[in-house]
Amino acid sequence: MAVLGSSSYCSVAVVGAVLVLVLVLNGADLCNGGKTSTFVRKVEKTVDMPLDSDVFRVPPGYNAPQQVHITQGDHVGKGVIVSWVTPDEPGSSVVFYWNENSEHKEKAKGKVSRYEFYNYTSGHIHHCTLNNLLYNTKYYYEVGIGHTVRKFWFITPPEVGPDVPYTFGLIGDLGQSFDSNRTLTHYEHNPQKGQTVLFVGDLSYADNYPNHDNVRWDTWGRFVERSVAYQPWIWTAGNHELDFAPELGENKPFKPYTHRYHVPYRRSNSTAPFWYSIKRASAYIIVLSSYSAYGKYTPQYKWLEEELPKVNRTETPWLIVMMHSPWYNSYNYHYMEGETMRVMYESWFVQYKVDVVFAGHVHAYERSERVSNIKYNIVNGLCTPVHDLSAPVYITIGDGGNLEGLATNMTEPQPKYSAFREASFGHAIFDIKNRTHAYYSWHRNQDGYAVEADSMWFFNRIWHPIDDSTSV
Ligand SMILES: [Fe+2]
Repeated sequence: MAVLGSSSYCSVAVVGAVLVLVLVLNGADLCNGGKTSTFVRKVEKTVDMPLDSDVFRVPPGYNAPQQVHITQGDHVGKGVIVSWVTPDEPGSSVVFYWNENSEHKEKAKGKVSRYEFYNYTSGHIHHCTLNNLLYNTKYYYEVGIGHTVRKFWFITPPEVGPDVPYTFGLIGDLGQSFDSNRTLTHYEHNPQKGQTVLFVGDLSYADNYPNHDNVRWDTWGRFVERSVAYQPWIWTAGNHELDFAPELGENKPFKPYTHRYHVPYRRSNSTAPFWYSIKRASAYIIVLSSYSAYGKYTPQYKWLEEELPKVNRTETPWLIVMMHSPWYNSYNYHYMEGETMRVMYESWFVQYKVDVVFAGHVHAYERSERVSNIKYNIVNGLCTPVHDLSAPVYITIGDGGNLEGLATNMTEPQPKYSAFREASFGHAIFDIKNRTHAYYSWHRNQDGYAVEADSMWFFNRIWHPIDDSTSV
């Protein structure tokens, strides 16, 4: 073992003292962050709704379609993927659809499949893409045959363009507890009327049941149908979608999720359904996967590297990124789990001026200032988040209300980059007004939809890139 000479020891001591000083100064700089809400939620156990709950009711009739859900089916909003399950036999994979001003029913044929997971066999899962729809038009659609035909409707988004107003809802980590039901109800009743849900991952939490009881994937599908059959939910894969269970002989990650929830990933040249992009109205939405490889040379890395330069902010001013595991999170839960992905991609987000990043995973709410932390190069010690007007705002909205309960324990003091945090369940609305302004609000469940517990005017990073920080 080498022994340090006295001069080496001396310089090590000096470096050590400087380091301590830097740490103390940094510590001071990191204190006195934004606001930790004083709202104290009554601590109650979060429990799943029992199987015989009305929200899980099976529609009447033999083999009636259930778990109906829609998502965007192309890159620009003229396509819709309609999905549903028939429990007893395949039935029909056809969707009949017509616009509200037409008597003529059109017909699209989808595909049906089923999967097995340990001792569970799924129903017959149908996916059918409707293409070349008219923009900004109400369509009715029907699935099922005979006297089990079920009818729903949706409204297509306006044509992609820079000043098209559009209202997104934000829900994450929903699960199927009584709190989940409250969150969904408050979203549905919010007078701001979300037109599409950006869902940041962790859907059913079926994997928390013995043998990942996939019956809880079915109940979740029936629970959310009342919203997602009528407006698209844009899906992000979370860790509860992995269902990786070698102890059960289930070695293929994302098996139930990929069978049940299709996304239009090929339309954005992605090679896997876990990362993809869509345009919708004035927004360009990039979905990333915290649980797929994202290092250099991986498919996701290469895709994102080619994707970001394609975003034309003259056409879609608002650049929104969704992922499951947050990069900026000051709760003592999942602390720094997003760090490795942040190291890989954060400089791109700053370079391409992403407006906002939505994540889930932490079962609480948090909004960051516009910060970046991209100067560090192993030896320079520059590893503190700094105010950066080219950086996105990071919002953690993993507060849907699943059975794992709330994350109530926060790191103290609140870091400077954290603008607002509160341990409550809720949902949010991102309401785009035009190319320069969007109004964002978060609604805690205790107040229903009526109270905005946190809000912010977003100024677009390309068209109005002035400071929109909420704390002076
Ligand atoms: Fe999660």
